Amino acid sequence: LLAIGKKLAPEIDRVKNALSQGYENQYASLSLLTDKGYLEKIEQIIALKKNLNPTMLIIVGIGGSNLGTMAIHQALYGPFYNETHPELKVYYADSTDAEYIQHILNAAESQLKQGNAILVNVISKSGTTTETIANFELFLALLIKHAPKNYKEFVVATTDKDSKLWALAEKEGFALLEVPKNVGGRYSVFSAVGLFPLGMIGVNLFELLEGAYAALVTSTSDEIHDNLGALSAALIFASYQNGLIINDTFLFSNSLRNLGDWYRQLMAESLGKEYDLQENKVNVGITPTVSIGTIDLHSVAQLYLGGPRDKFTTFIALNENFEEPKLPNLPSFATLVEAIQGKSLSSIMAAIFGGVQKAYAQADRPFMTVWLPKKNAFYIGQLMQLKMIEMMYLGFLLEVNPFDQPQVELYKKETRALLRG
Ligand code: PA5
Repeated sequence: LLAIGKKLAPEIDRVKNALSQGYENQYASLSLLTDKGYLEKIEQIIALKKNLNPTMLIIVGIGGSNLGTMAIHQALYGPFYNETHPELKVYYADSTDAEYIQHILNAAESQLKQGNAILVNVISKSGTTTETIANFELFLALLIKHAPKNYKEFVVATTDKDSKLWALAEKEGFALLEVPKNVGGRYSVFSAVGLFPLGMIGVNLFELLEGAYAALVTSTSDEIHDNLGALSAALIFASYQNGLIINDTFLFSNSLRNLGDWYRQLMAESLGKEYDLQENKVNVGITPTVSIGTIDLHSVAQLYLGGPRDKFTTFIALNENFEEPKLPNLPSFATLVEAIQGKSLSSIMAAIFGGVQKAYAQADRPFMTVWLPKKNAFYIGQLMQLKMIEMMYLGFLLEVNPFDQPQVELYKKETRALLRG
């Protein structure tokens, strides 16, 4: 670890100095954490759009343009948000799955028919992603049908200033929020990409950014054992060098599933690269998987504990104990499962999690554990920023550019050709 820490030193310095260079470098996403003017602009649009009293927010975007928002949304409000918050339901229109999008269109139309307002936030950094633009056109057409005179009030476009979407939004008169040029999709959750929709649903943006800033502070220390981002990267890198080519994020909370999906994209797109080394193609990458405890103990644990030794695991667990619900102690249940009577589900979960870690240690399966003190905006912001810095450090250690995704263009090019016919 000390050797890896030494190797990382110049990159740690670059991350440390990034703030003073603003948005003019590849670490631009870090500047979002202290940009008060930018946050104010987002807050103004949030206030404006809240005044319309929308009962539904439709977030049209994919990949880096919606995964971070989904992660924070679910972590803070749990998996049943739409049932528990009927005053502002949220839908994510990402894939071009006709059945799925039709369902959202129907839900939106039903709100409009009842005389309620819906808000469409189209998010695309490039402004030309097929899925996003196709879905946006559908929701825009719905708005035009029901509010032909003032439909533009119900649209917010979040995009790069040079994109074609920006030009269209300007021409149409939609509210516009900028994604700074050097802030890449999967590093953009603390830009308007995440902050606008999260602000609309009441997330404390100040706390979120404070948590993220705290991660920047703890991830720029020169001492590897105090530098959480570097330490985490070093553990994953050392494991990869030892043949552990799969990285499993094992989250012990149903509300953190989307956080796992967000990290999966961050790792896959940032590190999975092909490049030419003296005319030889070199392929690099760590395959990220996501598991949810305790559910996946009953699906993949056998493989993880008994299968090939090719995985490094990061457990993410909550350090919060809930008194409720508690098992009622029904006499007829006493003989079914030993020693659970009268206990809270939280304490049963803790015992299972403790058992899992012991089993991993006994089976000699390497892991690290991240304890989240609480599932609040501060700690979720801190964890996500920590993981983004970890990815910058991993990119440096693996000698790849963690900010680009050249091969994703391959499918986009072929898709466009097929659509042209
Ligand atoms: O991380 C990335 O850059 C990608 O996952 C993009 O976010 C994704 O492809 C969507 O692109 P865009 O925001 O340009 O529509």
